[in-house]
Amino acid sequence: MPYTLTAGTGVVPCEPGRTVLEAFLRNGNWMPNSCNQGTCGTCKIKVLDGELDHRNSPEETLTADELAAGFVLACQATPRGDVAFETPATEEPASTHVLRDVVVTVAEVRDIAADTRKVLLTADEPLEFSAGQYVEVTVPGTEIRRQYSLANPPSEAKELELHIRRQPGGVASEWVFERIDVGERVTVTGPYGDFTFDLEGTGPIVLLGGGTGLAPLEAIVRQALSLVPDRQILLYHGVRTCADLYDVEFLRELETRHHGFRYITCVSRESGGDRDGYVTDAFLEDVASAKEFTGYICGSDAFVEASVKAFKRRRMSPRRIRRERFTPAG
Ligand code: FES
Repeated sequence: MPYTLTAGTGVVPCEPGRTVLEAFLRNGNWMPNSCNQGTCGTCKIKVLDGELDHRNSPEETLTADELAAGFVLACQATPRGDVAFETPATEEPASTHVLRDVVVTVAEVRDIAADTRKVLLTADEPLEFSAGQYVEVTVPGTEIRRQYSLANPPSEAKELELHIRRQPGGVASEWVFERIDVGERVTVTGPYGDFTFDLEGTGPIVLLGGGTGLAPLEAIVRQALSLVPDRQILLYHGVRTCADLYDVEFLRELETRHHGFRYITCVSRESGGDRDGYVTDAFLEDVASAKEFTGYICGSDAFVEASVKAFKRRRMSPRRIRRERFTPAG
């Protein structure tokens, strides 16, 4: 028998063993979430009544004081019975999508850069998502799920594009780089995350991506340009060596078709990109004031921190800064 979970006006069933976050998202009730790994704290919510198992809720994310005050991490906690929560404090985004399992077929696998592959999946049924969100892929032959951002825009809801970097010894890497087969059937769960394109904004956009952090930014750029073809958009892609660059031709071609779009490659450990060095330095050199801009960042923790600082130095409003921290999916 499923348990009943309540948060504000939302009442959802929850199968035993399922996390609070999954129960709400699978039933179309928004709940703030980002990492789904217990590391960011976005899904923290207060319990009013009921008991839960906290599972992997690390103390750095959920402190002893917060635990004592009745908070849980919704992405980790599983109910032990019916539970009532406080209404989530975060505002619901303009568009939300139901979390679902979708069966997909591997349609194409391509080497696109050093230790990096593009995997194209065809879904049996369309998966609704917002540009910028990610899915979890269940690695075939295992129950392990790995997170990958979707690089295609939501208009292509049946053709899902993933950019995957090899992580030595990683279970997902072993699948993607050693034994993946075109035609293979795979389960994908999603969409997750609060890193989404702001559909209401109309001003200029700047996006900074590190490595395969380019993936969700491509989805955002493609959707933004399809809605307003002449919008001012600056996309900076930061990598260590030229061999790490990818989709250069595609993005250059986009530049020729959209006069407001600029794509800048930044290579930090050798010459050969549009700029030598880091994306943050290139952005600071190019943009005197980012007051009117909305900023999107995707990369490692250090990349995100440096990028937020650069945006703030150019006076971008903190509420206009959207960020996605990725941990390598091994
Ligand atoms: Fe739950 Fe990040 S800690 S979504």
